[in-house]
This record gives sequence, C-alpha cells and structure tokens, in this order.
Amino acid sequence: MAKRGPTYICQACGAVYHRWQGKCDACGTWSSLSEEAQAAPVPGARGASSGRARGRVFALEGLKGETQDAPRIVSGIGELDRVTGGGFVPGSVLLIGGDPGIGKSTLLMQACAALASAGRRVVYVSGEESTGQVRLRAERMGLSEAPVELAAETNVEDIVATLGQGLRPALVVIDSIQTMWSGEVESAPGTVTQVRGSAQALIRHAKTSGACMILVGHVTKDGQIAGPRVVEHMVDAVLSFEGEGAHAFRILRGQKNRFGATDEIGVFEMTGKGLSEVSNPSALFLAGRDQAAPGAAVFAGIEGTRPVLVEIQALVAPTSLGTPRRAVVGWENSRLSMVLAVLETHGGLRLGQHDVYLNVAGGLRVNEPAADLAVAAALVSSLTGAILPPESVYFGEIALSGAIRPVSVAAARLREASKLGFEAALMPAGGADAGDGGGLALRRFGHVTELVADIAA
Ligand code: TYD
Ligand code: MG
Repeated sequence: MAKRGPTYICQACGAVYHRWQGKCDACGTWSSLSEEAQAAPVPGARGASSGRARGRVFALEGLKGETQDAPRIVSGIGELDRVTGGGFVPGSVLLIGGDPGIGKSTLLMQACAALASAGRRVVYVSGEESTGQVRLRAERMGLSEAPVELAAETNVEDIVATLGQGLRPALVVIDSIQTMWSGEVESAPGTVTQVRGSAQALIRHAKTSGACMILVGHVTKDGQIAGPRVVEHMVDAVLSFEGEGAHAFRILRGQKNRFGATDEIGVFEMTGKGLSEVSNPSALFLAGRDQAAPGAAVFAGIEGTRPVLVEIQALVAPTSLGTPRRAVVGWENSRLSMVLAVLETHGGLRLGQHDVYLNVAGGLRVNEPAADLAVAAALVSSLTGAILPPESVYFGEIALSGAIRPVSVAAARLREASKLGFEAALMPAGGADAGDGGGLALRRFGHVTELVADIAA
C-alpha cells in the first residue's frame, strides 16, 4: 500500500496534491491549497462486501407508473420555478451558489414561506444564523407567519436523524453546505473533505426519503473555504445567483439541471422587503437609457424561452498606449475581437489606434452570437459619433466573411420590441420566421458594409 503523506486539497476545485504548491494546476486558483487529513476509506466500501447479490434491477418500462406522476413542488415564485424547470423535484438535490450577501438566504426563505403557506412541510436548517436571526429576517420580509420549521444545526448526522423522526418534509434547505460537518470525516468544517462528506450524507438522505434538498453554497474568491464546485457533480441541479453590487437586481441562472433546460434565467429585484420578481426584465434593463448619445444600441435577445431587451454600450476612443485596450463587461472578449476584426477587414473601419470598451447595461451577461449586430452598430456609432435611432432594436449574427446571418426566434424578439414601444428592427436579410414583424418596420441587412454605410449616412 502506498505511503500516506500529508494531502493538500484545492479548496476551489477539490484537486488533490501530495506536495504544497502556490497555484492549483487544475483550476488555476492561487493560494487555494490547504492541508487536509486524507479522506478515510468509506467504512465497508471495500472488503466488507460479501459478494452476495443484493442489488436489484428494474425494467425501465416497468417504472413508468412510478415516475410520471411524481409531482413537482411548485414554489409559486414564477421566476424561481422557471429556472428549476417547473418546480423542485422530490428526492433531488439542488445547489444554489453565489457570492456572500447576494441574497441566497433571502430567496430560499421566501420559497420556504411560500411552500409552507401552501401546506407543504418545509424545514430550513441554518448553520450560519441562529433561529432568532432567521425569524427576524422573515419578520422583516413579512413572512414570520408562515409555518416554516427552523433549525440551527451544523452536524449532518444530527440533521439527518432529526429529519428522519417522522417529520417527512417535502423540502429541506441547508444554509450553507460550507458550515456543515460530519463526525465521520476528520477534516475541519469548510474544507473540501468535510463539504463533500456532508453533501454525500445529505444527498443520501434526499434520495432515500424523497425530500427535495437545497444546498446553499458560497462562492469564495480567496479559497479560504471550499467552493461549491466540489459538490457540483454530486447534485442534480446547480443554479447560480448573480448580481452586481451597484444594482438592485439579481439573476438566477441554471448551470446544470437533470430535470430541465439550463438556459432560463430568473430576474429578481432586492427591495427592503426581500426579493421581488421582475416579470418584465426588458423594461428594467432599458430603464434610464440615455437615448441621445452615440455608442448605444438595443439588442433584442433571448434568454431561455423569454425575449429580453438590453442596451449595449460601446466607447471607441483614440488610445495613448502602444497596444490599445479592449475591455468587455457582460459579453465574450473573443467575440468582441472577432467583430472588431470583421469591421476592420470588411467594413473599412480603422480601430488599431483606438481603445474599445463594451458594456452590457444593467449587469446582464449575454451569451448569444445574435448580439453581434447590436455590438457592431454600437461600435460604429461610437467611432463615427453618429447617434443610432433610439426606437430601433438590433439582432443578427456576423460571420467572419462579414455576412449577417439569420438567428433563431426572430418573431419573439420582434414582438417583445413592439410591446416595449420600439418602431423598427435592424435584422439579417435571410431567415423567414419573422412572422408579422410585430408591427415593426423591418430593415434587413445582408453584410456589415451595408450596416456601416447606413450608420454613416
Ligand atoms: P442574504 O440573503 O443574507 O445573502 P446570502 O444568503 O446570499 O449571503 O442577503 C443579504 C443582503 O440582502 C444584505 O446585504 C441585505 C439585503 N437585504 C435586503 O436588501 N432586503 C431584505 O429584505 C433582506 C432580507 C436582505
Ligand atoms: Mg445567507
């Protein structure tokens, strides 16, 4: 058997090393390695098995009746149910990650209160706050009347034993997984080994009891405590709760979901009385738009199944540096480089002596190539100083050849723009699914040269 030396585990990703090093080779995080006791072999995992056939096999088809009517636990918070794919699944485990203070506890307390008020049995286990503190928070949000059962506990064996005492809750919230510890694991709470061990015990309980388990995970940048990434592969769904400190709104995004799509987002606004749902995010993202400035274009995007309009801002300014700066917030850096190269090569623009800054207003992160056209329009507008018509929206993908390619679900984008009072859409020449165009004037472009000429005119 190999000699057991000290083990160093990356607190961000869980990679294991036998020698300390400054940077984790696996995830690139600095100073994230900490010494931990070697994970003890699971008792009975090896050697203890008698080799008798104890597992059972089931026919896939025969299970149909058992699964099809497993009801989803619908929280009634529309933006949350949208991201989970239509409600929580009994017996599943969901991880919600996010920066400390972003509002994870607030969101989950609201979900618990909504479910408890609807007659579901809900247990909220806080490892960070006392039950009194949790109650105070609930009171501030006007939820203290909801029959949520609270526990302030950090030992998973105790939690599992308590839950097993005939409570049979439909939903259990563990806030947070990093505060939990298991007596069967030697390492200190907050380390990778503890977080994994605790998660395993809780997941086992969820699978056997049929309760839906929600684990809260703090995302840490300094690696002082283990990040939620170390349990991501063990759970059924991973959601992340994001937001910018300066803005009141928060975005819930699916990263992994065994029971639904991952491209949906839920939008919330943090108020004095907890989180409120934003069912029309476009209006929020477009609020406070400065219409009379060059460099701004409204992109008609799609997040999951929902159209979302968002302003794209560009600033193109002469540089004083040898290598001009390119900075992007809310979009892919490489995608910006591509659009810039296409504009230089095919659009005749000279950007080599200019710094370029691109910002997606409101803290939203856009992943669609369909934003290319809006980005290009904002860049050309900033460079030339020509103000884009404020009542127009833009969408379309730009190819390396400079061709503007059609994108999916054009009709939904146009309807949303029309609903918000826009009058025209600048869009790809090809593609037929524009429907009736939502009553907008459709201006179609086949190549970036046409766009550049149009803005400059
Ligand atoms: P919290 O849910 O505790 O964050 P997390 O669990 O992700 O660490 O939210 C904390 C922040 O939210 C805190 O800065 C205060 C703010 N907040 C409000 O603005 N209004 C409220 O009603 C509540 C409960 C919190
Ligand atoms: Mg919290």
